[in-house]
Amino acid sequence: MNRFVARTLIRSIIDGGNHCRHEISTAAMENPWKIVGLLRTYQKVGGPGGFYWTRTMSSVTPGPMTSSVAEKEERVEEKGEEWKKSDQTTMVSSYWGMSRQKIKRADGTDWPWNCFMPWDTYEANLSIDLTKHHVPKAFLDKFAYRTVKLLRIPTDIFFQRRYGCRAMMLETVAAVPGMVGGMLLHLKSLRKFQHSGGWIKALLEEAENERMHLMTMVELVEPKWYERLLVLTVQGVFFNAFFVVYVLSPKLAHRIVGYLEEEAIHSYTEYLKDIDSGAIKNVPAPAIAVDYWRLPKDATLKDVITVIRADEAHHRDVNHFAADIHFQGKELSDAPAPLDYH
Ligand SMILES: [Fe+2]
Ligand SMILES: [Fe+2]
Repeated sequence: MNRFVARTLIRSIIDGGNHCRHEISTAAMENPWKIVGLLRTYQKVGGPGGFYWTRTMSSVTPGPMTSSVAEKEERVEEKGEEWKKSDQTTMVSSYWGMSRQKIKRADGTDWPWNCFMPWDTYEANLSIDLTKHHVPKAFLDKFAYRTVKLLRIPTDIFFQRRYGCRAMMLETVAAVPGMVGGMLLHLKSLRKFQHSGGWIKALLEEAENERMHLMTMVELVEPKWYERLLVLTVQGVFFNAFFVVYVLSPKLAHRIVGYLEEEAIHSYTEYLKDIDSGAIKNVPAPAIAVDYWRLPKDATLKDVITVIRADEAHHRDVNHFAADIHFQGKELSDAPAPLDYH
């Protein structure tokens, strides 16, 4: 009995906290039977065409499905009856006036996502210089650089060339610094009765963008139980460590992130090489990526990795810029934050 309780608790910790799925996926996680009902409604009223049906059944665009996506759908069907029973006891009150307006795409089709809106989407800047590197000169620069190089060793040993898995795991870490930095700047703004110069928003945007990278990768790779456990452990350690570093030295914290982003660019470049060589199959882009980066409907994994890499280059520039501001003895609020590009 005790073992059962412990196992349930651990599983709930590991499985919990997945808040960013599109409308169908979110409900499917909690109650897929409701989605089956929605899909039937679409059929009855002659709703959007076959493309839309495919999108709602899976968040991967039409084309050969990855086995992990197919497995996910199988599990949804298997559990259908179970969820159907729970659906009979689930009710959402509209008393609070929280119902969402109908949002459409530019082409008139319904917007299927809850976790981001059309105005959050953008086209990645593919012309960004991927080769830029901050040459470490000061002691803190060298310390940041060596720390990141050191952190890369266990990552290389653990993942080797499994870039899908590697990217998914690293994005769980990459989304932490922006949130920690944004949160601390928010508190500082409150404490000191000062404007932030837009940096709170810029860092939170970065965190959100990194989380969208993760939501994209998780459509392609199914995390194993021990990887979920690893994320749990790493997050516990990294969040607290980064928090302490940011409190003690924001310039070191931003410099570390700048170098982490340089490593991310390198990893995604290697990922692209494996796609080009055929070692990794160039599957259709997940639908979430098509909408988020405004990609063409026939976009592939290669297109997705290319735009993610451009995002990482932008994060590199933002964080090295933030570190430079501190190195010049100024506050972040003294320089306008690079907003509206993630
Ligand atoms: Fe990322
Ligand atoms: Fe990044």
